[in-house]
Amino acid sequence: MQIIIYDDAQQVAISAAQWVQGLIKEKTHPVLGLATGSTPISLYQELVKQYQADQCSFTNVTTFNLDEYHNIDESNPQSYRSFMQENLFNHVDINTKNTFLPTCEQAQNPRNQGLAYEDKIKQAGGIDLQILGIGANGHIGFNEPTSSLTSRTRIKTLTQQTLTDNSRLFTAQEEQPTTAMTMGIATIMDARYVLLMATGKNKAQAVKDMITGAVSANCPASILQMHENAVILLDKDAASALEDHSYYQWADKQNRKLNEEFGFYHNF
Ligand code: PGA
Repeated sequence: MQIIIYDDAQQVAISAAQWVQGLIKEKTHPVLGLATGSTPISLYQELVKQYQADQCSFTNVTTFNLDEYHNIDESNPQSYRSFMQENLFNHVDINTKNTFLPTCEQAQNPRNQGLAYEDKIKQAGGIDLQILGIGANGHIGFNEPTSSLTSRTRIKTLTQQTLTDNSRLFTAQEEQPTTAMTMGIATIMDARYVLLMATGKNKAQAVKDMITGAVSANCPASILQMHENAVILLDKDAASALEDHSYYQWADKQNRKLNEEFGFYHNF
């Protein structure tokens, strides 16, 4: 795990945007895994800014989102399709036909939909870089605690904590979905790189469990300890429960020196 601690959330977003730009520039047909939630919004704002400044183009990019509510119409403002259109896709030159979410309507078999999503990712050549947030309960995507560490795209029932955490996004009139389709943990682990962004004090315990706890289905993000290329971008608040703060900062400095000397290394 490469753990990088920044002063604030804005720097986390800028750094994540640099990773995405690196991928887009390096590969002819980049495949990007995307996340929803509050944390990546500032990343998408950065990417839109860079696109508007002619610094990147999304014409050849294919995207796969981590999750989508079960049986939600894509035109529903609460759907993750709407979120992605509003926060990124409508503002850049991406071909919407190349943007995928794990959808499942009421009449569709969630198992078949999950398998079809896995196939689609394979056909695209696999995910090069997967953006992740982390839930206060350690979830990645909607892989809630106790999710199988070898799971694939499927339907999940959301925990009460996740429902409570996300209830801020729903008005009293809106019905909050309690089930969702999500990439599995094994699906996420197949990505060549994973880039997890965490900001704010409410993530500090989950971040600590992910980095220094045992690998356990009780904290699904802890599986990233087993990923060959996991990059964890934190602001000071999200890093505040880590004990080896100074070590991570020292290691980051050393890595920057190496990058200056030998060039920034990644192998999408
Ligand atoms: P948040 O969600 O970015 O809205 O905090 C993160 C997550 O649940 O993965």
